[in-house]
Amino acid sequence: MRMRKKKNLAPRMEKCESVWVKNPKEYKGGWKHLFGNDNSIHLEIGCGKGAFITGMAKKYPNINFLAVEKVEDVIVMAMEKAVKNELKNVYFIDINAEDLTDIFAEGEIERIYLNFSDPWKKKKQAKRRLTHKNFLDCYKKILKPEGYIWFKTDNKDMFEFSINSFAEENFKLENITFDLHNSDFKDNVMTEYERRFSEIGMPIYRLEAVYLGWEDKRVKPNILDKLPLDKIQSVKLPHGKIPFDKIPVIGKKTEKTADVPALKE
Ligand SMILES: C[S@@+](CC[C@H](N)C(=O)[O-])C[C@H]1O[C@@H](n2cnc3c(N)ncnc32)[C@H](O)[C@@H]1O
Repeated sequence: MRMRKKKNLAPRMEKCESVWVKNPKEYKGGWKHLFGNDNSIHLEIGCGKGAFITGMAKKYPNINFLAVEKVEDVIVMAMEKAVKNELKNVYFIDINAEDLTDIFAEGEIERIYLNFSDPWKKKKQAKRRLTHKNFLDCYKKILKPEGYIWFKTDNKDMFEFSINSFAEENFKLENITFDLHNSDFKDNVMTEYERRFSEIGMPIYRLEAVYLGWEDKRVKPNILDKLPLDKIQSVKLPHGKIPFDKIPVIGKKTEKTADVPALKE
């Protein structure tokens, strides 16, 4: 997300100090102390202007939310939303996601949200995608075993890339939909990008990826065996490259074929 440099950025950031974590390294392993409770912690990476994370915090007061965003001009708008709404269960961290393991201990995060992550279309830019193997390795370290990543995007190529990346990194994929807004998923909270794209009729792709366990003690057998089947729609993808039209979709499939306009990178 490119933004013009904001006037008065520093004082605006300071006005948000009640929700801004300036020294995130100090909380590594102890984020629950910041919140003052043992509720589970959900993390959004690349929160943009914050409609999603503030919406979630309002909707789920018993969950602790953290949002990471690398662009200060953008995170300030997200923080202002949280302050305006007097939210007590959300904090913001202005770092690059590359540094997540500096600020979170193993298994500290219950769920990660990746919403409309920049697709970085050129092959040589693939490492910057937030679903690249290098980032997934990092998420594995901070996620609890059986922790989830919820991912949604308007970008078909990014979705295909990500499905393969998750599958190759021992995530199990569930509830894949090619058209979120016409799917059975009812708990959706919209992001700024999502609103923009859906208003022009674009389908939104979504999946949930569950992490099967830390590398050295992978949960076996498959954790889904423990869950009632009628509670879960799941699909385990074989490792390897899977063409988009071969991706198995469980549940209602209402695919649209609109071309996906490129986002600015
Ligand atoms: C396309 S925008 C989507 C914003 C928001 N999630 C939404 O759906 O409206 C992607 C956001 O992710 C942020 N971002 C991209 N890479 C990041 C990284 N490595 N660390 C932190 N934030 C990142 C960008 O600065 C941008 O604000």
